[in-house]
Amino acid sequence: MGLFGSSKSKTFLGVDIGGSSIKVVELANEKGRARLMTYGYLELPAQDGGDGLFDQPKKAGEFLARVCKESDVKATQAMTALQSSNVFSTILSLPKSKDPKMVKPLIDAELGKLAPLPVNEMITYSTMIDGEGAKGKAEKAEGAEKAKEEKDKYTRVLVTGAAKTLVSKYIEIFKTAKLSLQAIDTESFALIRALIGKDKGAIMILDLGSKRTNLFIVEKGIPFVSRSINIGGDSVTKRMVEQMQLNEDDAERAKRDLGIAGGNGTLPKILEPIMQPIVNEIKFAFQLYANMELTELKRVEKIILTGGSSHLAHVPEYLSETLNMNVYRGDPWARVVYPKDLAVVLEEIGPRMAVAVGLAMREME
Ligand SMILES: Nc1ncnc2c1ncn2[C@@H]1O[C@H](COP(=O)(O)OP(=O)(O)OP(=O)(O)O)[C@@H](O)[C@H]1O
Ligand SMILES: [Mg+2]
Repeated sequence: MGLFGSSKSKTFLGVDIGGSSIKVVELANEKGRARLMTYGYLELPAQDGGDGLFDQPKKAGEFLARVCKESDVKATQAMTALQSSNVFSTILSLPKSKDPKMVKPLIDAELGKLAPLPVNEMITYSTMIDGEGAKGKAEKAEGAEKAKEEKDKYTRVLVTGAAKTLVSKYIEIFKTAKLSLQAIDTESFALIRALIGKDKGAIMILDLGSKRTNLFIVEKGIPFVSRSINIGGDSVTKRMVEQMQLNEDDAERAKRDLGIAGGNGTLPKILEPIMQPIVNEIKFAFQLYANMELTELKRVEKIILTGGSSHLAHVPEYLSETLNMNVYRGDPWARVVYPKDLAVVLEEIGPRMAVAVGLAMREME
């Protein structure tokens, strides 16, 4: 029995270890639809947040065990994601080979040139982008004979990698929490599952967290651009502490009230120095994407916001006006069945739970 309904079937647990909190979402597969069994989150004490948490994996594991217990999680297996600021990712174009054994050395050779760490110190994972479907489509296009030949010769591969030392810390965290770790995913793929689904367009996901802002440009479900900057909601709180001589808790409350106070529909002044570098990063990512040889659509059509700081006052409107495009907050519960009376609470916490929702969905696809 989970918090919301009983399940005889297997459930799926997504665990997001963020900079300021640990979040868990447990889903059950009900005839192909995801049903929410339970969810929970634990705010980390300030001194334990950020990267510091990974220096004390035992403590992190105890935090995780606590949040699972408090939310009555039943699953014994879990899915998690590496923080994208710690993930190296690149897209390679490689000659097609029927023998998978031939591909690995090619990837390693390319990674040797690009990655920030020696290949033997990383755990890497490769996803073939050009499946049979993509090939079929190219073959039908008229006058695309040359493009087809190119496509037949080369395949695009998304390669992600992270330091082995970091991965072993995740393994220790889950061992301490007595959860068996099924797989380690990336935040980008989790957010694509939770917020984009089957949409094949060119879409930016902007994850405004506590310590970091991550942005991903996704084309046909594949993250072609992944970037992370060290600015987030905590930067706003810090500014409020300094400028308004408030303590941390009062500043956090005042920050959330910025939205309620309404203003005149424009971005509060205190948010401007935080939003400016984010806008610059978005524009830079648009350029990177447009100039990438391996992409097709080139122009991002909309931005989906997520992360707790997407609640900051007038941020969607500000970005929409500044960038002259459709910007809205995504709903990670859109493909999840849940009790109606939870709708208001789930809407409020949705932006914070999106990564965990997408992780729990992984094995259900
Ligand atoms: N209603 C709100 N208004 C403004 N900010 C909010 C609101 N609710 C949460 N936040 C902010 O959202 C942040 C937490 O968001 P989130 O849980 O997405 O971050 P995280 O995953 O822990 O961190 P990160 O992704 O940076 O590692 C905090 O800075 C918090 O102050
Ligand atoms: Mg986060």
